[in-house]
Amino acid sequence: MSPVSEQQRRYLDAMGIDVWVRRDQALPAEVAPLPESAPEPASAEGRPDVSELDWSALRQQVAGCQLCELHTSRTRTVFGVGDEQARWLIIGEAPGVDEDRQGEPFVGRAGMLLNAMLQAVGLAREQVYIANILKCRPPNNRDPRPEEAAACFPYLRRQIELIQPDLIIALGRVAAQRLLDCTTSLARLRGTVHRLEATGTPVVVTYHPAYLLRTPADKRKAWEDLLFAQSLTRDDQA
Ligand code: URA
Repeated sequence: MSPVSEQQRRYLDAMGIDVWVRRDQALPAEVAPLPESAPEPASAEGRPDVSELDWSALRQQVAGCQLCELHTSRTRTVFGVGDEQARWLIIGEAPGVDEDRQGEPFVGRAGMLLNAMLQAVGLAREQVYIANILKCRPPNNRDPRPEEAAACFPYLRRQIELIQPDLIIALGRVAAQRLLDCTTSLARLRGTVHRLEATGTPVVVTYHPAYLLRTPADKRKAWEDLLFAQSLTRDDQA
């Protein structure tokens, strides 16, 4: 592991992480049994087939989506943002109030921390792709319902197929459990490579930045998760 650069030191400071953390500490690299099942795509009946759409057609489809009740309360759909050929795809839970207003994922306080977390491992926000399990905000920021996640999943799946990322980072328990269709705790999901059944993409799980804002003591563990992810996608290991 390379030494911490001045820039990374600043971002680690911003994240509230002491820089004396040992970076050569072995991170667990156990590979989970394949596959944990992903959410079932919504039934084909009455639902548009998005599996062949290009970016522009997919965006349009999402913008007009009425597949679940959330379309009645949204201000805007939140499609996703970033490098369409990114190596890392970051997946959160669902848009919050700021994202619903601006139409972009992770633009609020949690988004600022996400940016700092990425920069701490040398990545600008523009170098990754950021999306959510849901493209619309659930009222009062409640958890996504299984049927909403299932209705939205074909869009996310198509984004994954178009991006072909080396790795998905699932932010928080809800995103991880919906992606991996499991009820395993976040503590048990961390530190292991999972796989998305739909595409075979490796998935690493870490804390949601909103949780880290409430529980800064766990920022160090999130940083370790990102180093773990980085160790899996380093060029010399490809
Ligand atoms: N939390 C999320 O999970 N996603 C966002 O886009 C914003 C906050």
